[in-house]
Amino acid sequence: MPIDFTLTDEQKELQKLARRFAREQIAPVAAEYDRKEEVPWGLVEKLHAVGLLNAIIPEAYGGLGLGMLEEVIIGEELAWGCMGIYTIPMASDLGITPILLAGTHEQKQRFFKKLTEKPALAAFALSEPGNGSDAAALRTRAVRDGDHYVLNGTKTWISNGGEAETVVVFATVAPELRHKGVVALVVEKGTPGFKANKLHGKMGQRASGTYELVFEDCRVPIENRLGQEGDGFKIAMQTLDKTRIPVAAGSLGVARRALEEATKYAKEREAFGKPIAEFQAIQFKLAEMLMGLETARTYTYYAAWLVDTHQPHAHAAAIAKAYASEMAFEAANQAIQIHGGYGYMHEYPVEKLLRDVKLNQIYEGTNEIQRLIIARHILKG
Ligand code: CAA
Ligand code: FAD
Repeated sequence: MPIDFTLTDEQKELQKLARRFAREQIAPVAAEYDRKEEVPWGLVEKLHAVGLLNAIIPEAYGGLGLGMLEEVIIGEELAWGCMGIYTIPMASDLGITPILLAGTHEQKQRFFKKLTEKPALAAFALSEPGNGSDAAALRTRAVRDGDHYVLNGTKTWISNGGEAETVVVFATVAPELRHKGVVALVVEKGTPGFKANKLHGKMGQRASGTYELVFEDCRVPIENRLGQEGDGFKIAMQTLDKTRIPVAAGSLGVARRALEEATKYAKEREAFGKPIAEFQAIQFKLAEMLMGLETARTYTYYAAWLVDTHQPHAHAAAIAKAYASEMAFEAANQAIQIHGGYGYMHEYPVEKLLRDVKLNQIYEGTNEIQRLIIARHILKG
């Protein structure tokens, strides 16, 4: 069968819906929420109302059952409006994915109901103050006590952690076992012994809430465990093998916005008696931006297709995430350069693009870790 790059009518509709949402609802308030460092809960409610929140939850459990390609299409559009605001639904999908992958029918019914019946978020808590890249070194303890686990420890950098109805927490029953001791537990909002402290002072993506989560003798019922004891690390890895692709999608949105803003400005701004768009040095920057964007988008769609057709995709997700985030960072950088001194000021949207997209090179595994995954894939043969 020939390769077909045509989007279905349904995918085009979703793209139109997300594009309109980003243009009318997100872009006009992006700078304000960035400045205030506040989560725009009203937008979360609107995303829920139009069906763009937690839409990867299967229809049988109250969601839309969207595939990875649809998630990517929506992600590019929302991030065009604001990468920080897009991180809110993106991190919620990250918190949903372990339940999708390893939850029982009963767990899916119970947890997904909380995430579909009203505007609500999920979160994914792997990183800790002492370990991020070395995820198997996690120290949060889960001690079995009858039909409960007792959680003690601290997670950090957890997106949506303070708002989330459900947080998938990765803990260890025996740190000396490294990855073999990891257990994945769904902790529900309001569970005694679970506290979320908001982190302040982020460089970018300031509209997304990032939290330290503290667990002090927090009792989690055994029926909230995903899979078996010892399965947690693989559940986390299999989740990230998917959810790094929506990070790539967000990077596409930022790069497209950078190209649009730079093009508009280059046509308006005059120097030496003509629009700067007439200088070949500026034209080449725009051309490089489009080359990067189109290449990254094609590859990100390919990675999404691998997921949707149930083929191995870990290395492709790593390539898409690293390549697209680096491409988008450079696009934002060049958009500032094309704006000259004005590009350095908050008044124009391009400096925020750079601040926001820097995070795409760090979260969901740094780009060094993506290279480690890609290199292991090569060496494995
Ligand atoms: N799928 C399934 N199993 C996997 C796997 C995968 N992708 N990767 C590893 N495993 C298995 C291995 O097969 C091995 O199992 P066995 O013992 O049965 O052989 C086990 O897991 C341990 O594997 P490794 O020895 O390869 O593990 P490692 O300690 O070297 O770590 C790593 C590998 C890729 C570096 C991993 O630690 C990693 O991904 N680190 C980055 C963490 C990360 O991405 N954090 C993101 C947090 S979420 C976030 O940031 C969200 C946000 O901002 C919104
Ligand atoms: P470290 O692991 O200490 O790494 C420091 C540096 O060393 C990096 O450059 C890294 O690439 C490099 N390095 C480490 N090991 C190697 C190696 N083997 N080879 C080469 N270089 C290496 N985590 C969650 O669990 N859930 C979330 O929702 C979440 N949201 C986040 C939101 C924000 C705003 C931020 C900043 C982070 C978030 N994170 C989240 C955490 C994020 O995933 C980690 O910051 C990231 O994985 C890196 O871990 P670290 O910060 O501990 O850096």
